[in-house]
Amino acid sequence: MKSGAVSCNGWVAAAALLLMSACFLKVQSQAPSTALVPAIITFGDSTVDVGNNNHLSTIFKANFPPYGRDFKNHEATGRFCNGKLATDITADTLGFTAYPAAYLSPQASGKNLLIGANFASAASGYYDGTALLYHAISLPQQLEYYKEYQSKLASVAGSTEAATIISEALYILSTGSGDFVQNYYINPYLNKLYSPDEFSSILVGSFTNFINELYKLGARRIGVTTLPPLGCIPATITLFGQGSNGCVARLNSDAQSFNKKISSAVNSLTKKLPKLRIAIFDIYQPLYDLVTSPSKSGFFEARRGCCGTGTVETTVVLCNPKSVGTCANATGYVFWDSVHPSEAANQILADSLIIEGIVLIS
Ligand SMILES: *[C@@H]1O[C@H](CO)[C@@H](O)[C@H](O)[C@H]1NC(C)=O
Repeated sequence: MKSGAVSCNGWVAAAALLLMSACFLKVQSQAPSTALVPAIITFGDSTVDVGNNNHLSTIFKANFPPYGRDFKNHEATGRFCNGKLATDITADTLGFTAYPAAYLSPQASGKNLLIGANFASAASGYYDGTALLYHAISLPQQLEYYKEYQSKLASVAGSTEAATIISEALYILSTGSGDFVQNYYINPYLNKLYSPDEFSSILVGSFTNFINELYKLGARRIGVTTLPPLGCIPATITLFGQGSNGCVARLNSDAQSFNKKISSAVNSLTKKLPKLRIAIFDIYQPLYDLVTSPSKSGFFEARRGCCGTGTVETTVVLCNPKSVGTCANATGYVFWDSVHPSEAANQILADSLIIEGIVLIS
């Protein structure tokens, strides 16, 4: 009892110190930005795409209502959400007053590049075949764009300042769900070729390559999200749940085993790359808790998304301006469409993201 109290006090003191140093950093780097990191650079899929797919010929787009209806100016930016993504909320928390632009958008130019850029593309994945299948931007191509960004940044900021931005920026990588849900589980060829475990290993191999490349390009603070509970997503329950309304255990177990592999890959990377700070953002547990006990966090609906039928469409085709049945207020819904969390759920994911990411910014 007593030692519990002591360690709790110790924890509070540590947290207070962290906050104090965070405030100190804020004061130190007053101009021009008061954010805790100079820039945020994002790679991945629809969980973090802020509009790159608007500029591609793919069916995976979200630049029409009702997407974005709770976003600033009710704008459908291309985010797969009614409002903010978890990473938008993280940017708010870190002190950003604007969001890094989608790299393929006209906004990604001039001084806007100073706060970073977003290279993510809905329907992309760790497995290049997933992006290829849906005409999305693969991770190697996202890296090519990032190299291009670096030279543009150098011409805007000068090479010294650009180098500082590159090494102090927060890098976020969030992908992998589509490799399973939109590829492996429905692709007889991949299914025959690999067990889920073998497929996971291939994905994690691609992850390791990606981090090595990113490190070579100067990244030092990287956060990577885990897979969510793949079996608890409305669309996967409908497609793979065999009529049951509960989470699909087989899919969740695939996600957990993938997450273990990512975690040991992160440990190896840490040993190999001396200046790398890397954190795992666990999406699995907070989302699993939300889906299995929604009311504990003030939600009332976890089985169907707010938009459209909210239960089956794995593409966005059925969540569109003509969708029938879209809910009036997404606040109580864990999912916005049949695949993507609502802004309200993203708020909860962002809370745990910032706790797990504190090692990257302190
Ligand atoms: C949705 O409901 C929440 C909680 O009941 C409320 O705070 C919010 O203002 C509502 N939003 C809209 C757009 O009606």
